[in-house]
Amino acid sequence: MKRVAVTQRIFPELIEELARRYTLVDNQADHGLGAAELAARLRDCDAALITAGEQVDDALLAACPRLQVVSNIAVGYNNLDLAACTRHGVAATNTPDVLNEATADHAWALLLAAARRVTESDRFVRAGRWQRWEFEMLMGAELHGSTLGIVGMGRIGRAIARRARGFGMRVVYHNRSRLPAVQEDGAIWMATEEVLRSADHVVLVVPYTQATHHLIGAAQLALLKPTAVLVNIARGGVVDDAALIEALQQGRLAAAGLDVFENEPRLDPRFLTLDNVVLTPHIASSTRATRRAMARLAIDNLADVLAGKRPSALLNPDVWDCRRR
Ligand code: DGY
Repeated sequence: MKRVAVTQRIFPELIEELARRYTLVDNQADHGLGAAELAARLRDCDAALITAGEQVDDALLAACPRLQVVSNIAVGYNNLDLAACTRHGVAATNTPDVLNEATADHAWALLLAAARRVTESDRFVRAGRWQRWEFEMLMGAELHGSTLGIVGMGRIGRAIARRARGFGMRVVYHNRSRLPAVQEDGAIWMATEEVLRSADHVVLVVPYTQATHHLIGAAQLALLKPTAVLVNIARGGVVDDAALIEALQQGRLAAAGLDVFENEPRLDPRFLTLDNVVLTPHIASSTRATRRAMARLAIDNLADVLAGKRPSALLNPDVWDCRRR
């Protein structure tokens, strides 16, 4: 039987299914495994079901010569060195599409919470600070009728834009390539700087790559309106967190809603002192239905490779051509 490693706790019925089909290697961890732990876990395995917290690089692959597939239970794959996977003949897969709607919902949860000061209000009430009703109490930013900027107009970006229509918002966006009109659906393409200047609020949905490292730093934050809310559901590192903290401290930006951080989960402690930031622990896709769909797709990807079939969400197609040869 093929040996399959699972690096995090996932739905028990899916684990049982895997155990019926393969020899399952310990799946007790409920945290991202470090390099040494991961290498020890994967050493004699044919396949690995991993999450975005685990790094797959050349050293790991060299230590795990049996590996045929690393199946990432995430759409983002900046934790995988695809070139190294290809060199080692390992197929790498991810879980696109199934999380678009849940992730878009969470972007809106952060946008609404930050704009309308929901978590700050909650803290205010719990602290017993609500003594009387005041006309100017906790005034937030208007979303209805305003302009939403989306940086990264892939499938999740477009799901966010669809929701904006219900709020009567105009949508401006940046994407490396302009979308066909049918996908734009009324949204207006602009350069990133122009989006930052003209939008009332901005959501970031770009993948993390060398090109998007600190895409939003001090200079870009300075372009935002001081009344703007910035939402990051992309990846830590897309925003320069130190620059964002300074902008929030100095009121150069009204608020931020953040699901991802540099060095997460050890985020900059200064975030915790700010009232104008809403923080969630990288959970944008975390609904029961969506996480199940992600795990299902990841298992199907893995099973396909082990059965010699090209998986639907293959990230390094070159490896497949080599395998076939
Ligand atoms: C993803 O799917 O990329 C989410 O961020 C979870 O890691």
